[in-house]
Amino acid sequence: MVLNFAHRGSLTEAPENTLPAFQKAIAHGAEAIELDVQLTKDRQLVVCHDHKLTRFNKNAPKRIIDMSLEEIKGIDVSGSFKEEYMGTTLPTLDEVLEICQDELLLNIEIKNIPVLYEGIEDILIRCLSEYNRLHNVIISSFDHMALKRIQDIAPSMPIGMLFYYRILQPWKYAEHSGLEVASIHPNQVYTDREFVKQCKASGYKVYPYTVNDLKHYEELVDFGVDGVFSNNPEIFGKVTSLKLK
Ligand code: G3P
Ligand code: MG
Repeated sequence: MVLNFAHRGSLTEAPENTLPAFQKAIAHGAEAIELDVQLTKDRQLVVCHDHKLTRFNKNAPKRIIDMSLEEIKGIDVSGSFKEEYMGTTLPTLDEVLEICQDELLLNIEIKNIPVLYEGIEDILIRCLSEYNRLHNVIISSFDHMALKRIQDIAPSMPIGMLFYYRILQPWKYAEHSGLEVASIHPNQVYTDREFVKQCKASGYKVYPYTVNDLKHYEELVDFGVDGVFSNNPEIFGKVTSLKLK
C-alpha cells in the first residue's frame, strides 16, 4: 500500500494550505494531506508555508510572527487564484481540523525555519488534543529538535524526520538521534533504490517530497517508497491501480 499526501492541499487548483485547497484534495480522494504550521504574534496556529505572505499578496510585508490572527485574517492570500478565490485567508489549524475526517491522515509540518517558534510544539499538541485528533497524524519538521519536543510531550505521536540535503546515512542519524522516528521524508532528488532499501531495513517508512511527475512516481514506487508528497492530483488522488501493483 502506497500512501500519497496532497502537498499543501491541491495547490495547483486553489491557494496552497487554505481550506479550498484541502477541500479540493479531499474531493480528489486524497487519503492523506500535508500542511505547514506557524505561530502568530498572539500564539495562534496558522497554516502557511512561508514566514511572510508576500508571495500571495505583495501588500502584506510583515512576518506572520509579527501579526495577530485578526490582522492575518484581513489579508487576502488568493495570489494567482484571484478570480475564483478572492478573499481567501490563511486558515487556523482548528479550521482545518474541522473539515478533516478522522480517516484522513494528516502530516503536520512544523515550519521552524527561518523563524523559530518557541513553544509551538505544546500549542500544537494541545490543539490536536482539544480536537480529539492525536491519532492519524504524523508530525514532521526539518527542525529535529522540535520533533524531540513533540516526542517528549506526546510520546506516541508518529514523528517524520525531514531532510532537505542528502546527508550520509540518514537512517543511522535517525537511529542515533534518541528519537523514535516513524518515517524519513527525504528530498526526492536523491531518493534512489539504495537509499530506500537502507531506510526500510532500519525500520523507517520513506515518504519523499515533492513528486509531481507520474513516471518518477512509478519509479519511486518501484524502489519501495511508502508514499510521496505530491502537488499532482493524478498522484495524490487517482493512483489506485499503481497501489495495487
Ligand atoms: O513535508 C514535505 C514538504 O512539504 C517539505 O518541504 O518546503 O514544501 O514544506 P516544504
Ligand atoms: Mg511542508
